[in-house]
Amino acid sequence: MTSSQLDKKYEAWSALFSEPMSELVQRYTASVNFDRRLWRADIQGSLAHADMLAAQGIITAQDLAGIQRGMAQITREIESGAFEWKLALEDVHLNIEARLTQLVGDAGKRLHTGRSRNDQVATDLRLWLRGEIDGLLELLSGLQVALLGVAEQHVETILPGFTHLQVAQPVSFAHHLLAYVEMFSRDAARLVEVRRRVNQLPLGSAALAGTTYSLDRERVARALGMVDGQGQACVCQNSLDAVSDRDFAIEFTAAASLCMVHVSRLSEELILWMSQNFAFIRIADRFTTGSSIMPQKKNPDVPELARGKTGRVVGHLMGLLTLMKGQPLAYNKDNQEDKEPLFDTVDTLRDTLRIFTDMIGGERDSGTGARSGGLQVNAEAMQAAARKGYATATDLADYLVKKGLPFRDAHETVARAVRAAQQQGCDLADLPLTALQGFHPGIDADVYEALTLRGSLAARATLGGTAPDQVRAQIGRHRARLAV
Ligand code: ARG
Repeated sequence: MTSSQLDKKYEAWSALFSEPMSELVQRYTASVNFDRRLWRADIQGSLAHADMLAAQGIITAQDLAGIQRGMAQITREIESGAFEWKLALEDVHLNIEARLTQLVGDAGKRLHTGRSRNDQVATDLRLWLRGEIDGLLELLSGLQVALLGVAEQHVETILPGFTHLQVAQPVSFAHHLLAYVEMFSRDAARLVEVRRRVNQLPLGSAALAGTTYSLDRERVARALGMVDGQGQACVCQNSLDAVSDRDFAIEFTAAASLCMVHVSRLSEELILWMSQNFAFIRIADRFTTGSSIMPQKKNPDVPELARGKTGRVVGHLMGLLTLMKGQPLAYNKDNQEDKEPLFDTVDTLRDTLRIFTDMIGGERDSGTGARSGGLQVNAEAMQAAARKGYATATDLADYLVKKGLPFRDAHETVARAVRAAQQQGCDLADLPLTALQGFHPGIDADVYEALTLRGSLAARATLGGTAPDQVRAQIGRHRARLAV
């Protein structure tokens, strides 16, 4: 069969159709321009299916060998860029199958026995996504390690902690960064959980109802690594569900959205901290750009874009949920629209995590493995900011509680002291002892210890608090978890 005969054959589907598709409809319905990125998973799934068909005696060993040979050739063609993708063949599945048939004849035509594109595409997508999740998990570990590296240097670096973006209490910069490590560790845990449900085999469900051939679905699942922790094959248990639900893609995108939201919060802080008014940090020039009009500017483009791209990923989540909501069972062509949002979610999250790891931890030297050029911290500016805004007012209240005052009364007393300090334009610690004693006679000279930033930090030694020992314990726990 010549290649143009083959195209016509697939284009016309079968003797049932009396007219070809218009060019516009062809473009409208085709997915090959984007779903070709599933090609490796498609071939992997086909090989596992063919191997099982042969083992079950549904195709011959000779047919299997032909399919394997043809797929090896197609792999080389795609890898080298020689493969000719055809819009007329609609999607990645038909493109590969048509080429296979061209290469190996009838063996290629037997591949689709007991299978439909409906279970095929669901399988491909799951296989592809599983691989991407594994890559994302590594990147998430890398980002956590980068944050830990900076945190380790700044256990004793103090900055103002905020609530309502108003100075609240002093915290260790390491403690602040470790909050993000917690978030990213939960993001990773969510992906691990999602991966379990992604890693289940739809193949064998055929178009929707199962198939008349005696397939061994568990064998296919095992061949594709779709097994649980005990090595048991993970096979979708209802054929209608298997071909039609994309909840696995939706929950992945939900997990990705949350991760982007965490990145976005971090971005917002990096942007604030970089501004001249804070001047807490600097990021390397390669993550910033200048202004075309204002020569003095260095703009935090990377964090800003990450914040912006978060909207795009959250949008994909909404898109996928909406895609699903009105579909009757089983497969509908609507589902072809699952791919671009899913692909873009993976691409966006992957690139974001990579760039953030470099921006925070520094770029890795491929030779020595050492990182350089990460986040630069201006500890003096942080400390100076923590001195403003009466960040140790709670400490004075706690001091009075220790002297026997009920907390509510202590709160009121300190409010008066803060007001007096404000009127004099000084910090609480700048008020003379006699002045402080005017607010409460129980105040002694040791009050100044409570009013220092260091004293304030050290006093917050509850589990998970910002006291240096607690922060070091957090770092140790994360290092053990990440085995770094
Ligand atoms: N390109 C299709 C998709 O992405 C493959 C499945 C097509 N199945 C069908 N019955 N038209 O969903």
